[in-house]
Amino acid sequence: MNEGERLTELAKRRGFYFPAAGAYGGAAGFWTYGPQGAALKDNIEDAWRDRFVVQAGHQEISAPDVMPEPVFEASGHLDGFDDMIIECGECGATHRADHIVEDNTDIEEAESLPNEEVMDIIAEHDIPCPSCQASLADEPVDNFNLMFETNIGPGTSSPGYLRPETAQGIFVEFPQLSEYARNQLPFGVAQIGKAYRNEISPRKSLVRVREFTQAELEHFVDPEEDEPPLESVADVTLPLYSGESQQADDGGVEHLTVRDAVDGGVITSDWVAYYLGVARDWYERIGIDMERFRFRQHLPGELAHYASDCWDAEAEIDGDWIEITGFAYRGDYDLQKHAEYSGDDYTVFKQYDEPVTVERPTVDPDMSYLGPEFGGDAGAVADALEALAEREPDAFEGDDVTVEVDGEAYTVPVEATNFSVEEMTENGEHITPHVVEPSFGVGRLIYTVLAHAYRADEVDGEERTYLELPAEQAPTTVGVFPLMDRDGLGEYAGELAEGLRRAGHSVTYDDSGAIGRRYRRQDEIGTPYCVTVDYESIGEPADGDGESATDPRTDTVTLRERDTTAQKRVPIDGLAETLDGLIDG
Ligand code: GAP
Repeated sequence: MNEGERLTELAKRRGFYFPAAGAYGGAAGFWTYGPQGAALKDNIEDAWRDRFVVQAGHQEISAPDVMPEPVFEASGHLDGFDDMIIECGECGATHRADHIVEDNTDIEEAESLPNEEVMDIIAEHDIPCPSCQASLADEPVDNFNLMFETNIGPGTSSPGYLRPETAQGIFVEFPQLSEYARNQLPFGVAQIGKAYRNEISPRKSLVRVREFTQAELEHFVDPEEDEPPLESVADVTLPLYSGESQQADDGGVEHLTVRDAVDGGVITSDWVAYYLGVARDWYERIGIDMERFRFRQHLPGELAHYASDCWDAEAEIDGDWIEITGFAYRGDYDLQKHAEYSGDDYTVFKQYDEPVTVERPTVDPDMSYLGPEFGGDAGAVADALEALAEREPDAFEGDDVTVEVDGEAYTVPVEATNFSVEEMTENGEHITPHVVEPSFGVGRLIYTVLAHAYRADEVDGEERTYLELPAEQAPTTVGVFPLMDRDGLGEYAGELAEGLRRAGHSVTYDDSGAIGRRYRRQDEIGTPYCVTVDYESIGEPADGDGESATDPRTDTVTLRERDTTAQKRVPIDGLAETLDGLIDG
């Protein structure tokens, strides 16, 4: 079994995650998180919220999963959110054309190649259908839009789509969000929620699924004025696999501090550099192994339709690099598009420190000249003159001025344009903010954290499996066991478990089977501490009075640590606080 298979087996057995609706045969790409998985997911989301929302002073929203079609016309997803599909003429199975190229050749990032090239590679290498091994050489490579379509209300007149990224729920609401932020840049809006993509070939359990959770932050900034607090992360060392390294034959990961990466021009956006620094430490906090981690820069052909610079955080599992987060500088693309398509105002008013006097060229075309001269085109000519005056006032310095409308040139005497330059006082201007976006896939984080925490060793001559999860992330923080369920040990341990739950711990009470097996069960779900109530805790009942010469009541329990399996006795009094101290480090 490889790492991923081993993990998926453990995940099913121990209630982390399993294929959804299995009783009905399920549907590929949909997974249910079991009790341990749901708790781990909550913990990772809470840690994300803590770092990227609360500590950063950003706001969090919750937008709908379904949005009307115009949102995705504007965002570009309706036209451009495609993957390459190839259908086998023999068995009818569909596959991602770029993936089968990557799986069967040395080519990486085939996604960035044009369809025709991918088709040629498949033919040249005679790559067979992964399902039936028939030749795919003569099959076309087409585009397949990944959005799930639905109808809003009865009938088909109001198409809607399940959002393919949570980001659009933030962009589309920018006018309200900006007002809430009192039009003061910079400000950040975050969202943790479901995203849906009708992936052609779901694979590797949580890695490529059709419904998944994203944690996204859209940080709106003034590109002219706002700078990230780079100093706060300047000394963080980043493992960088830059575009240049990827293109060099022997290029590998370079370890650079944020400061050196920016000064050396390896990362071109200061904002992206800042977030790589913040995220690097956060990944370590949630338990990602920094020896199996890198930031990879997108190659020019790979950039998403909206991005001008993009780096992915990637984690290694089974020798493959899995993208767990995308960091993109999206510029003003999204806000401009929503402004254009909706007609709404997606700008902020930027107040100047001091009012400034500006020269404003204007025209007031004489329609009694334009009308008779240019007939039905007079209005368009007037508009073209207005635009030209704004853009190129010098054009009005001669006797005539020429504008083009629908490819035809119209010459107008400057006198008839009533061109003038007015002096105006301005207090500010409307600007469209730029956006920097760290976009995390929560399922892939969970998969990576579990894969990187997986350990096997030997305890008392027996093999054991355990998850070395950071205590803060562990879905269960403490297992509570009575040594045996008799002589009041069970009742006492049960009450202790209740008290720990009330104090905020996530507790599993377990009284079945040998104590060693109970420890193993907790080890496999990564529970950092186990507490055992024994006769020393409450006193040996043999003499009838709860006190015994051999095992006097000590009001202590055994506290056992997961990774070392070391045990020590600790007082019951203050146990919740003792555990808090250990978990918070
Ligand atoms: N708003 C930007 C955006 O959505 P993306 O790179 O397409 O960017 C961001 O997605 C993250 O979402 C990825 O880094 C990945 O962790 C996760 N993700 C994307 N597609 C996924 C899928 N089919 N299954 C699981 N996670 C996925």
